[in-house]
Amino acid sequence: MGIYFDKENNIFKLDTATSSYLIEIFDQNYLLHLYYGAKIPDTNLNMLHARSTYASFSAGNENIPFGDFSADTWPMEYGCNGCGDFRISALQIKDKTGCNATDIRYISHEIINGKPSLPGLPALYTENDADAQTLAIKTLDKVSGAQVTLYYTVFENLGAMTRWAVIENTSDNAMELERSMSLCVDLPEMNYDMITLYGRHNKERTAERRALAHGIQGIASKRGSSSHQQNPFMALCEKGATEDFGNCYGFNLVYSCNFLAEAEVDSNCGTRVLMGINPSSFSWHLEAGETFTTPEAVMVFSENGLGEMSRIFHRLYNKHLIRGEWKEKKRPLLINSWEAAYFSFDDDKLVAFAEKAKELGIEMLVMDDGWFGKRNDDRSSLGDWYVNTDKLKGGLDSLVKRVNALGLKFGIWYEPEMISPDSDLYRAHPDWCIHVAGRERSVGRQQYVIDFSRKDVRDAIYAQMYEVLSSTKIDYLKWDFNRNITEAGSAILPAERQKEFFHRFVLGTYEIMDRLTKDFPHMLLENCSGGGGRFDPGMLYYSPQIWTSDNTDPIERLSIQFGTSLCYPASTMGAHVSACRRTGYDTKGAVALWGTFGYELDPTKLSPEDACRVKRQVEEYHKYYDLIRWGDLYRIKNPEEDGFDCAWEFVSEDKKEALLTVIVMRRDAMKNRILRFKGLDPEKKYECDFDNEEYCGQTLMKAGLNLSQMHLNDHEVVRVYIKEVD
Ligand code: GLA
Repeated sequence: MGIYFDKENNIFKLDTATSSYLIEIFDQNYLLHLYYGAKIPDTNLNMLHARSTYASFSAGNENIPFGDFSADTWPMEYGCNGCGDFRISALQIKDKTGCNATDIRYISHEIINGKPSLPGLPALYTENDADAQTLAIKTLDKVSGAQVTLYYTVFENLGAMTRWAVIENTSDNAMELERSMSLCVDLPEMNYDMITLYGRHNKERTAERRALAHGIQGIASKRGSSSHQQNPFMALCEKGATEDFGNCYGFNLVYSCNFLAEAEVDSNCGTRVLMGINPSSFSWHLEAGETFTTPEAVMVFSENGLGEMSRIFHRLYNKHLIRGEWKEKKRPLLINSWEAAYFSFDDDKLVAFAEKAKELGIEMLVMDDGWFGKRNDDRSSLGDWYVNTDKLKGGLDSLVKRVNALGLKFGIWYEPEMISPDSDLYRAHPDWCIHVAGRERSVGRQQYVIDFSRKDVRDAIYAQMYEVLSSTKIDYLKWDFNRNITEAGSAILPAERQKEFFHRFVLGTYEIMDRLTKDFPHMLLENCSGGGGRFDPGMLYYSPQIWTSDNTDPIERLSIQFGTSLCYPASTMGAHVSACRRTGYDTKGAVALWGTFGYELDPTKLSPEDACRVKRQVEEYHKYYDLIRWGDLYRIKNPEEDGFDCAWEFVSEDKKEALLTVIVMRRDAMKNRILRFKGLDPEKKYECDFDNEEYCGQTLMKAGLNLSQMHLNDHEVVRVYIKEVD
């Protein structure tokens, strides 16, 4: 199994298929971090802990000879605030003295088969104990009485690990948890680039790379969601690392609220990486005997570049994060009413969409925003989750039956965490929205956020949802979240707990999502937050797919999908063909095929030629479904880097087939265009639909296909499917 304790040297060794991670119990029971990187055979690696210590400015421990240790410069497994470690801290606890100096030391450990769940939090899971092993290291801060258990789960075969911490107040007094990060890794060097995913509404998760420099650098959200602006993902890769070469570390937080991911390069050129809840908007009051569990963080290491790092994340998430019936089951090909009708629809119009959609081969109609309360624009009715019978004249059940009778499934839209000032709910309960007494309530998209940290509020919203969802057959629910949180406060939290608000809010959201998935286990859940403002592993635990972006322009989507794919698999990326005129249907279809695939347009307005193209796309969706859903992704040409082409490829796990897609970013009639495959079996012979010839995998990967004479125009697509010759 993946976890081994070397008693003689007091070293834990955590191995995956691609990596090793070593922790040492050092003198005075300090926990030191020894190594994280490519898989290595030895455990007697105590020599790795030493770092230079520098005169009196580096704090030491009087029980350890001078020069043999400094918490300031040595690699700490979970760096604490104020007792000699001056770097950014993983843990900071204010105890009864009012001081927040913190210092944890090893007490005991346990190795468990499988993986425990995290109470109230989304987390990776195992279906049987042989899939993973977990190490729990118990530590104690003697003075405050905080017992901190560090958990590490090793998914040995997949090349991934996860971490979290549980803090228990074993003292007789209350304490404040001011900082408790999910992961802390001290790497001995600084020669890395940091890659993060920045963005905004309509431009989420665009990869950005920068060199590490001395000091603190990183990304964060304090918006009450993981956010469009930054994603809780960070990679450190060695300088010069590419898709196929170089050491890469990927870190991802299983959390949908305020986060922090940072790296500090210290004066000795070591790098500390931290990831967890953003401490700037957090503290947690722990009464005697109470515990707090941090969110889980995922760590992936690859010595073969960013491509392999991504593929490890993809396999891990497809197997151990996505849950329920839709983990394995083929997802329905849907059409969504939003870009087709916005708020202006009634039941007859939706049925007309469904009739046409049926002809095209589409399998589900999703009724987006606008079906409830008096909602005819975005100024009202959030919180009034009852059917608008002016629009759905025969009621919801009648509409669903009409759509089902055509042979289509039916989906619905909700935004449960929101409340419109113009709603019956708000008029009845003005204190149910998030607010700070006496302060103006900022509006975003004309709405407030409802206080999901309150159980009474959650129950009331869920009761409304339950009534509608159980009144008919709903196959799919799109859960939206269309603004960020301001004036963060709850009407019922005491003053000393107001900084718990954000975390309590997201726990409330998770609780409702959990109830939904339990009460309606067959319903497919798709998350959304003005597109991809909450595209994170926390949400993926409840909803196997997330609407990647409101931006459905296929060319702009490319950077978004490339960035998203750094850690999220194709099976999770909601991607639709829309009416956008920037490119033809072939290109739009090719881009959407990378994700869950669907439509976001008025099907009754398609020209006969485009309707034929759509039918062809539907066939392709079925033909390539398994390959894209379960295959390995290879990013061939990045739209942000290669000035001319963008290309990506899916290869089946058994390497028997592959689909390569190229989109011309900039036409150049004179430029040679050679396209090389990746990830094939060099020995296998493949039949290639590009020229109906047969080539060896090695030839396709090394010599490639020659597209030079194709005279491709801007945004034109070339798709090549290859299959092993029988
Ligand atoms: C958000 C979503 C859209 C749509 C609208 C409805 O912006 O991203 O897809 O559902 O809300 O108001």
